[in-house]
Amino acid sequence: FRTAAVIPAAGRGVRLGPGAPKALRALNGTPMLIHAVRAMAASRAVSLVVVVAPPDGATEVKNLLAEHALPERTDFVVVPGGDSRQESVRLGLAALPPGIDVVLVHDAARPLVPVDTVDAVIEAVRDGAPAVVPALPLADTVKEVEPHTDGTPEPVLATPDRSRLRAVQTPQGFDHATLARAHESVTGEVTDDASMVERLGLKVVVVPGHEEAFKVTRPLDLVLAEAVLARRRA
Ligand code: C5P
Repeated sequence: FRTAAVIPAAGRGVRLGPGAPKALRALNGTPMLIHAVRAMAASRAVSLVVVVAPPDGATEVKNLLAEHALPERTDFVVVPGGDSRQESVRLGLAALPPGIDVVLVHDAARPLVPVDTVDAVIEAVRDGAPAVVPALPLADTVKEVEPHTDGTPEPVLATPDRSRLRAVQTPQGFDHATLARAHESVTGEVTDDASMVERLGLKVVVVPGHEEAFKVTRPLDLVLAEAVLARRRA
């Protein structure tokens, strides 16, 4: 099996507040994207990492990869991204060479995912699952509401049984041919890649996620991420 990781890193990160694109912001002095690239390259199975850069930032990202120490056994490629995460992933997949059997798609915004989680996803794909997602049970109860944009209280429509819900992380792992087919044939907005494979009617399975694979979305997440890094160094 040859395994590649595609890292969509082209988002602006608006919810994080004003500043550089999210993936280029520093965590304890190192850009979030470099942490994410190292997290993928930490798996001995991953031989290639494709970084999907902000459309106007491919040169900057290439320079960043050159400046930081990365494993020599891994190849790195940078391509410019698109307007949506889905488009960015599609552009990353288009840059894969022939002969890749397993593809991971990993958000640059999840810089701290442990290598054991990465390896568990790869192993489940190698064992025959067309699509694999790491996920955790929810701490919060979730309610479906009638969304209001005017700030008035939103009516609750339903409360799904929490024990049947999972919060999904990345890297998500795929049989390469299956993911390529999903990106060719599924249209409409999605928030993760596995849901495109679900729409093809194929089975997606869950493996245990990890609390350190959380997504850096809001300012508080930066505080948490830096605390996790400090704890690792201690
Ligand atoms: O916005 P969200 O947090 O869901 O983004 C998830 C990942 O997708 C981030 O790593 C972000 O950089 C990436 N993304 C992208 N291209 C876009 C939008 C988001 O690569 N146009």
